[in-house]
Amino acid sequence: MAFRTSLRLAATAAARRPASLAAARFYSQATTTTTTTTTVPNPDPTEDSPSAKLVRSHAPFMVATYSRPPPVFIMGQGSYLWDVDSRRYLDFTAGIAVNSLGHCDPETTRVLTEQAATLVHASNLYYNPWTGALSKLLVEKTRASGGMHDAAAAFICNSGSEANEAGIKFARKAAKVADPSGEKYEVVSFKNGFHGRTMGSLSATPNPKYQAPFAPMVPGFRVGELNDVSALPELVTEKTCSVIVEPIQGEGGVRVATDDFLVALAKRCREVGAVLHYDEIQCGLSRTGEFWAHSHLPKEAHPDILTTAKALGNGFPIGATIVNDKVAEKIKVGDHGTTFGGNPLACRVAVSVVERLADAGLQRGVKEKEKVFREGFERIKQKFPDLVTEVRGRGLILGLQLTEDPGKIVTAARERGLLVITAGENTLRFVPSLVMSEEEIKEGLGILEKAMEATRA
Ligand SMILES: Cc1ncc(COP(=O)(O)O)c(C=O)c1O
Repeated sequence: MAFRTSLRLAATAAARRPASLAAARFYSQATTTTTTTTTVPNPDPTEDSPSAKLVRSHAPFMVATYSRPPPVFIMGQGSYLWDVDSRRYLDFTAGIAVNSLGHCDPETTRVLTEQAATLVHASNLYYNPWTGALSKLLVEKTRASGGMHDAAAAFICNSGSEANEAGIKFARKAAKVADPSGEKYEVVSFKNGFHGRTMGSLSATPNPKYQAPFAPMVPGFRVGELNDVSALPELVTEKTCSVIVEPIQGEGGVRVATDDFLVALAKRCREVGAVLHYDEIQCGLSRTGEFWAHSHLPKEAHPDILTTAKALGNGFPIGATIVNDKVAEKIKVGDHGTTFGGNPLACRVAVSVVERLADAGLQRGVKEKEKVFREGFERIKQKFPDLVTEVRGRGLILGLQLTEDPGKIVTAARERGLLVITAGENTLRFVPSLVMSEEEIKEGLGILEKAMEATRA
């Protein structure tokens, strides 16, 4: 009873708190100084804190797939999260590029609760109004965006890995129909790419840390070097059924595929009759300031398969695999399926989210906010020239390349009220909500600078 009560009390207290950052900071200091003697404004919960007690009581029952910092989050609103110990955190992570409309966005909550009271699930054995509505909307918004001009149909599922898994299966099936010899089965992916944790998507994720414990991988996967145009003729061959690539690699360290590379890659795919699959699970849905990260590319570099997830439900689990007719016509009833995927609740939420993320004003805002980040990064780079070597990315998927492990900086930032995550090798990754205000961005950059200063001492 004690923990449930303390959670409820903390949530109630946090909800009552004034919205301004200064007021929240004051509240945070006032409530946390009772459990700690450190001088940072938002110190991590101590061993005797309600957070630590809660974590200890749950840990034995959880498969330990993640290493987490001490705070236990109980509430989110806009750009902020609150923890059990009543600390407030400005969130530059947005649940790993998921909460693009902010935490607990009121309209998403309204739609979610309305649909939850109407129809949650009836299975894919029956029609409902929302799976089709979302599929149609994704196709229409994609075409209107200037991206994937021949987008034709969508398969709705529950996550990014599943969306990619469907994409890989669809490509294998399409190749088998086109070439019944069975010789056209290879899937090409790229170093530093990340496509998920299921066996197919993992096989396309050439990171030994993720693959080694589960080897052997699915047969037929090959790895290339991103942006190496000269290697394409040997890499992508008549045996290739599909090439999967993130236009901006997220987990791999915010690495941007050049337009020239994607154009050359698409050309090579067409030469050998391979399907081109863009994984926009992290970089898509307006995160770059255009609806898809590839929307500005010429038609000939558009994909045959496009996968999305993360921001699609603003935190509600959902993914989608968008295909053109060349692929769709080769998939038959019974080839693929899912119990939960495309249920009316998830799809109703995603319809609302997609409508709003496709807004031109929101996209312009992303580009304005990118400028604020870049100005701040330039200042930080000048101040810490031995620490920061490069700024990468586009829109609100940005990376700061550091010369050291960012762990200490991440902790120092958190203990000053800012959440930031890492990627690749020594990269700090910035994927905040797309509706974060410029003031909040400046505030967060100020905290980051202080965190860097503190770790230089
Ligand atoms: C580009 C990309 N593809 C696929 C995935 C896997 O998505 P999920 O974790 O929803 O399975 C991720 C997750 O980080 C991703 O960033």
